[in-house]
Amino acid sequence: MAAKATVADHPLIQHKLTLLRRVETSTAEFRQLLREISLLLAFEATRDLDLEEVEIATPLETMRAPALAGKKLCLVSVLRAGNGLLEGMLDLIPSARVGHIGLYRDHDTLEAVEYYLKLPEDIGERLVIVVDPMLATGNSAAAAVHRLKEAGARRIKFVALVAAPEGIEAFGAAHPDVPILTAAIDRQLNDIGYILPGLGDAGDRLYGTK
Ligand code: URA
Repeated sequence: MAAKATVADHPLIQHKLTLLRRVETSTAEFRQLLREISLLLAFEATRDLDLEEVEIATPLETMRAPALAGKKLCLVSVLRAGNGLLEGMLDLIPSARVGHIGLYRDHDTLEAVEYYLKLPEDIGERLVIVVDPMLATGNSAAAAVHRLKEAGARRIKFVALVAAPEGIEAFGAAHPDVPILTAAIDRQLNDIGYILPGLGDAGDRLYGTK
């Protein structure tokens, strides 16, 4: 397996993920839990952002204090389930720029087919955090990152909620330069590309479409 998948093992993330996985969790609860977990994942994913010292004035005196350096980062949601991770991340990083990439899985080949792309023009100057809850086969994740690199993105991280070993392997082989952060690495894929034990179809559970 590619070595670059980090599991966000914070107890709050793990507890909320357990609630989220349960089959009896309602759409409203799923949405709320995903929002909360994604805020925590954003916290983990931004640990290594660069800081610079800026001069500020407190009510009592001036001081040099740390502030984020460089351009605001860019979050890219892989539609549609990626939007579930996006919302909580924006709660924590409201000034982030946002891109969207639409990919669907061809049910026969499991390959990713692109149908939508909208990105900030200066994506090459920003840290890009790509979000998609389920890193399953890795096909759509790898295709999304490939398109972002074509668009000029140079510094990219990938954040998933649940990853399969097969997806980590395939994604890592395609993009060894892109670190993966996930809340869990599950056992395996089933024969139609779903993660086991997983949580089912993230998009359907998020939007109540099944
Ligand atoms: N996409 C999902 O939503 N769930 C899976 O288990 C795999 C891919």
